[in-house]
Amino acid sequence: MNFSNVFFSIIVCLCLTSSLTTSYQTFDRSLPQDPTRACRRRRTMKGELRNICKHEPHLIAKMRDGAIQAHAECQHQFRFRRWNCTATRKSLRRVLQRDTRETGFVHAITSAGVTHAVTKACTNGELLDCTCDNLQDQMTNAHWHWHGCSDNVRYGYTKAKQFMDGRYRRRSDSKTNVKLHNYEAGRVSITHNMKKECKCHGLSGSCSTKTCWMRMPTLREVGNMLKRRFDGAAKVIPANDGTSVLPSGPTIKPPTTEDIIYMEESPDFCSFNGSTGSLGTEGRVCHRGSPDVDGCDLMCCGRGYATIIQWKRENCHCEFRWCCDVTCKSCIKEEEINICR
Ligand SMILES: *[C@@H]1O[C@H](CO)[C@@H](O)[C@H](O)[C@H]1NC(C)=O
Ligand SMILES: *[C@@H]1O[C@H](CO)[C@@H](O)[C@H](O)[C@H]1NC(C)=O
Repeated sequence: MNFSNVFFSIIVCLCLTSSLTTSYQTFDRSLPQDPTRACRRRRTMKGELRNICKHEPHLIAKMRDGAIQAHAECQHQFRFRRWNCTATRKSLRRVLQRDTRETGFVHAITSAGVTHAVTKACTNGELLDCTCDNLQDQMTNAHWHWHGCSDNVRYGYTKAKQFMDGRYRRRSDSKTNVKLHNYEAGRVSITHNMKKECKCHGLSGSCSTKTCWMRMPTLREVGNMLKRRFDGAAKVIPANDGTSVLPSGPTIKPPTTEDIIYMEESPDFCSFNGSTGSLGTEGRVCHRGSPDVDGCDLMCCGRGYATIIQWKRENCHCEFRWCCDVTCKSCIKEEEINICR
């Protein structure tokens, strides 16, 4: 089973269709080889996905790539945590049905991944109906010009929003609002962090003129930023009107667009629980002596751990010989691996 496809199909069906099971099966069967094949069953689809399939089927492939990259980034960011962004289908579905900070992070990174992939495809000339962003031509000064190919993040933002938020346009309950807030947090983690890049021109590198363009952060940088937002995520409670949300206490400052928000405390993810989607930490590798959540004490939830010794062959005593050679000896090194009980 391809976990990345599972991830995308779950995201797609939670995002886009009211009939969860139909489209879930649709995507699961049709995505693996050719993503545009997903669009063949257009008649059974609803809303924005149907529109995109009809008019811009090539976009679906890019969005799928974005969701897959987002999932890889989620696994990287959570590799040392009890919940490691696993894509086991049932578990991920459960996690996404709740309102915890983990849910918020997955929503934010997915919508960031989709925005990133669509924008990048646009810059690379892979999409017909968008080009580099040239609007900044006017803002030229004496020493530099906007003449490079700026990432067209407005296009990526708009398409990602259409795709991810489309289904919820007519809904307004606090759960939906939390989700839409986190989708937006993901998209703005890109749009608010564009950087100017320049190239020098002029005789012998004098840099008398420069060509500049705006570049998106890498998905790794986005992942790092969103992980910090996850660590400082803001708890909210439903407001009296039943639709909007408020900070969970009078002294807590209202979250900004960039913040990840949540309504429900996370389970501890220590042991298996089918209803929360927790797989437990039995069998996970932990780091002895680390006081953080990757350390055996916290990772194994006090159950203890088993230590396995492995021997590994590696290069050692390397010497540099003039010129230009490096010679090494081969050593056997002992390596300790700790695994939660
Ligand atoms: C699973 O988690 C739910 C919600 O936290 C809790 O109410 C329930 O008791 C847990 N079930 C088990 C078997 O631990
Ligand atoms: C994530 O955790 C699950 C169970 O806790 C484990 O089976 C899986 O191997 C872990 N994945 C990675 C990439 O560490």
